[in-house]
Formats: sequence, structure tokens, C-alpha cells
Amino acid sequence: MAEPRLAIVVGANGGIGRALLAALVRDKAYDQVIAMARNAQEPDQGALWIEADILDESSLKQAADRIRTLGQPVRIILATGALHGQGLVPEKSMRALDPEGLARSFAINAIGPALVAKHLLPLTPRDTPSLFAALSARVGSIGDNHLGGWYGYRASKAALNMLVHTLAIEHRRTRPLGLCVVLHPGTVNTDLSQPFQSALPDGQVMTPAQSAQALLSVMDGLTLADNGGFIDWNGVNIPW
Ligand SMILES: NC(=O)c1ccc[n+]([C@@H]2O[C@H](COP(=O)([O-])OP(=O)(O)OC[C@H]3O[C@@H](n4cnc5c(N)ncnc54)[C@H](OP(=O)(O)O)[C@@H]3O)[C@@H](O)[C@H]2O)c1
Repeated sequence: MAEPRLAIVVGANGGIGRALLAALVRDKAYDQVIAMARNAQEPDQGALWIEADILDESSLKQAADRIRTLGQPVRIILATGALHGQGLVPEKSMRALDPEGLARSFAINAIGPALVAKHLLPLTPRDTPSLFAALSARVGSIGDNHLGGWYGYRASKAALNMLVHTLAIEHRRTRPLGLCVVLHPGTVNTDLSQPFQSALPDGQVMTPAQSAQALLSVMDGLTLADNGGFIDWNGVNIPW
């Protein structure tokens, strides 16, 4: 008998994560939707909540051990990340560079996601399609960086992009139908973008539900040629 098909949202308490979760639960393509977060919510929205902190590898291993008993993840979406708070202040200039802040950015935005991949990618099916999509950010593009600033966030997202691109190459060797990509969700009205929205022109900020819908339709349209790509919410490739 076929294994139950699982969809997983890591960072399910975040603005975009919650919207992705709500949409996935409505999608009949999955037998079970798993919400991973530091703090589990009451079982709502039909998802199964599993607690894990992406900075605590033992919690990721425990979560993976539990997920293995439930079925095979065919879609894993990583919606964690931080720009400010948690000891982070987006740097406006080099004078603001702080080793602890930089290390924290890298831990949350690059190292944690790589550890999630380390523990969850081996659970994906070997012979049928699957997708691992990590939310990155356009500001992590080196080629597209004309404004400067936000050193830690930019550099940690660029590192995330390289980690996922490298994972995609290795993953393909054992799972020829398995995709790994990084996606830019657009500018979305969440806690993460809230302090910076006033600088944006009207109409440039999406709701989490709009972004989730756009991201899911991009994910649905991906082909094997997209493996390892850096793609925006419109389905357009972003320069590295
Ligand atoms: N919003 C935007 O405009 C925008 C633009 C470009 C890219 N992005 C990217 O999109 C992703 C989602 O952002 P968002 O706007 O939804 O932000 P958000 O509402 O602040 O959500 C971020 C999530 O990351 C989780 N997280 C942080 N550290 C964690 C850890 N150590 N372990 C587990 N979870 C952790 C938070 O968990 P808790 O709930 O436990 O705090 C929160 O649920 C991020 O990667 C962000 O960089 C967002």
C-alpha cells in the first residue's frame, strides 16, 4: 500500500507559514499536513503540530523520527526566518556590523534551514515527485543588490541560496524526481516586514494569503529543470 502523502510547513506560526498551512490543509493532494513550529498550537486547521526549533538539531531529529512513522513528505516548505528582533537589527551601515548579530542571522536564516533539510530530505520518496522549498528573499541576490544595507539578512539569505542549490544537486542523485528550490515570497504584510512597510509605495505589500496562493501555484508549476533555482512569487528566476 502507498505511504500516506505528507505536506510539512516549518515555521507554521509565522505570517506566511500560517497562510501556507491553511491553503495546504484545504488541498486534497495530501493525506496529512504537518505544522512544525517552536510552539505548537491547538490542533486547528486540520494540521498535526510538531514542535521543533530549527536551531536545536536534536529537536529536528526527534521531529523527523516522528514524521517517518506518519508517511512520506512530498512537499516540505520552510517558512522560518528573521530580519529583526531576536537580537537582530538590520544594519544601515558597516558601522553597525556586529559579530553576534551576523552569527545569529546566519544561524536562523541559513544554518537552521540546512539542518531542516538534513533531517527531512531523507524522508522524501525515492521514486515519486517531491519538493523542498525554502523561503529566501530577493535581497539575498548579489546580482540584484543595488541598495546595500541589511548586511546580515542579505548575506545569510545568499548563504541559504547556496546551501539549497548544493542540496538540490546531491538530492537529485538519490531522488531523481525530487526538487529543492528557494523562493522569494514578495513583500508581505507580516511581523517580519512590518517596521519597513512605510517606505514602500502603496499596493506593493501582499497579504499572507495572497503570497501563499502565489507561492503554491509557482510550486505546482515547477519542472525538473527548476531544481536548485531561486524563483520569485511570480515564477520568475531571480539572479544569484
Ligand atoms: N514578509 C516579507 O515581506 C518577506 C519578504 C521576503 C522574504 N521573506 C521570508 O519569508 C519567510 C517567512 O517570513 P514571514 O514574513 O512569514 O515572517 P514571520 O511572520 O516573522 O515568521 C517567521 C517565522 O520564523 C520562525 N522562526 C524564527 N526562528 C525560529 C527557530 N529558531 N525555530 C523555528 N522557527 C523559527 C518564527 O517562529 P515563532 O513563531 O516561534 O517566532 C516565525 O514563525 C522568511 O524566511 C522571510 O525571510 C519575507
